[in-house]
Amino acid sequence: MIDLEELRKKNLVRPFSTSLKSVGCGQVSEEHIGKELKLVGWIESIRDHGGVRFIDLADITGKVQLVAKKEQKIDTYRTIEDLVEFSVIRVEGEVRRRPEGTENPKIRSGSVEVFVSKIELLSKPDILPFLPTERKEPSEEIRLKFRYIDLRREKMRRNILVRHLVARKVREFLWMHNFIEIETPFLTKSTPEGARDFLVPSRLQKGKFYALPQSPQLFKQILQVAGYERYFQIVRCFRDEDLRADRQPEFTQVDLEMSFVSEEDIIALVEELLRFVFEEVLSYKLEIPFPRISYDEAMRKYGVDKPDIRIPFEIQDFTQIFSESKLDFIADAIQGGGKVLGFVASGIQPTRSKLVSYEQLAKSMGAGGLMWFVVQGGKVVASPILKFLQDKEKSALALTLNGSDGVIFAVAGRYELARDVTAKIMKNISHDFNKVNTSKFAFLWVVDFPLFSWDEVEQRYVSEHHPFTAPKEEYIGILESDPLRVRARAYDIILNGEEVGGGSIRIHQEDLQRRIFKILNLSETEVEERFGWFIRALRYGAPPHGGIALGFDRLVALMLGEENIREVIPFPKTQSGTCLLSEAPSSVYQKQLDELGIKIKER
Ligand code: AMO
Repeated sequence: MIDLEELRKKNLVRPFSTSLKSVGCGQVSEEHIGKELKLVGWIESIRDHGGVRFIDLADITGKVQLVAKKEQKIDTYRTIEDLVEFSVIRVEGEVRRRPEGTENPKIRSGSVEVFVSKIELLSKPDILPFLPTERKEPSEEIRLKFRYIDLRREKMRRNILVRHLVARKVREFLWMHNFIEIETPFLTKSTPEGARDFLVPSRLQKGKFYALPQSPQLFKQILQVAGYERYFQIVRCFRDEDLRADRQPEFTQVDLEMSFVSEEDIIALVEELLRFVFEEVLSYKLEIPFPRISYDEAMRKYGVDKPDIRIPFEIQDFTQIFSESKLDFIADAIQGGGKVLGFVASGIQPTRSKLVSYEQLAKSMGAGGLMWFVVQGGKVVASPILKFLQDKEKSALALTLNGSDGVIFAVAGRYELARDVTAKIMKNISHDFNKVNTSKFAFLWVVDFPLFSWDEVEQRYVSEHHPFTAPKEEYIGILESDPLRVRARAYDIILNGEEVGGGSIRIHQEDLQRRIFKILNLSETEVEERFGWFIRALRYGAPPHGGIALGFDRLVALMLGEENIREVIPFPKTQSGTCLLSEAPSSVYQKQLDELGIKIKER
């Protein structure tokens, strides 16, 4: 993992000089020996060595050791004894080589120290709610409330610098490849990406609302019509959806769009981009091209459309083995059109209580239970249903392990349920038994997505990605007659089982776009109202085009091995959408509401 000093070397290269200081604290080095420097920073620690005080003075560039006499005056009344940790000070002093044996090779300034001749106190702190130098991490609530202190912690400094470096490298790469950075509006009309919109009331046109963009999708397509053949933007997107570890209401995308391309061009470009970024930021060599899997295969083998291919197990269909089962729940499941799905975990020896916990997990997901079969020496030796198993079932099960010891897990039930439960247990077991190489970055493209799925609640077809995704040519004839069979020219990019991006080749013909809206059950009036402005643009010479958006926060979090994207976002929101630092959202003055013509129904 990349360390903070390394990052500083890559990011903070030029001298940090201003009228108040000669260089950054972490930039003081042997080249300054014998020179008088002016430095400013925060006191990270003060150590008492009899007559002298050693002070670690730190800023964004790192830290440097100051040496000061105990009686060193700050002003008429105060001496160095009055300084406390995290005071902001300004010092002047001579740089000297540290005595042999006292060097600190871990920091850039580790071979020198500064002998203080003058100290000025610029800002005296109150008692901090927590010390950023403490090893123990405070609760997340405290961290977010006092984010400015939290952001001083080494880990956060590292994360924010990595985030910055990734953005820089993305830009560098895209600029080199002729992409033009173009901004698109935030106050706009709804762009459907499947979530709720954040709405902004208009004061000048009372009763009307802007929507914050869920993505710049339509504008980047319009830019293609306008001839900006390679567009990109590192852009904030807004989605009012339930929050999870990998979701924030406002998040950042690396958004790009190209004209006159096929899927292959975009996939190849993104692979090159990621290889460049991983090499430049992490010195990690990604092997390209990344593997690809079809949506159908992903669902069949891994039970999810974003498989973690580091997991060494695959879903297997055991229905045949249990086709003559004497157990009612299995026989009923099979007779009802269901399946017995599961997987073979060789080389693991879970305890009984662990097995029970997996069973509870399966039940909490709606399965009747979880079957497990411990195999040793080629025989099933333990299972909650051991005494109901027929010999041929036992031997068929044991054979799946190819002679090694391990455990087989299986779920009987409706296909989707058995698949989802198996996928979940498979994932948990892989992590619980260290079967996943967590130091590896496993990218994967998922392709051949369905264009539509059926929404039970709304009783209509919905787009699997968004309505502007082009269907594969060979399916255009069956769009209306068999929508669920239609495959899309879409691709998702997965990293370690997380969706870090998605895109597609778009529809660039008005008539085809209208057919899609019709299948989505949008009336002509609705289409005109919501997308008329966009569809019209397709009439005036729209080039074939396509693109992708990478989830920037997710990508950075995965690069850093962070489990929550909040760890790589400077000012994130909590699960309930609150910014603990600024206390947003908040109520507003009645006057503001009146100006907007808004009345709150109830508080
Ligand atoms: P999509 O909706 O798949 O595609 O978004 C692209 C990527 O953005 C990330 N992402 C999020 N990250 C954090 N918090 C969220 N709430 C959140 N929602 C999405 C994911 C996702 O893969 N316009 C299309 C792209 C295109 O077709 O070009 C779009 O937005 O990593």
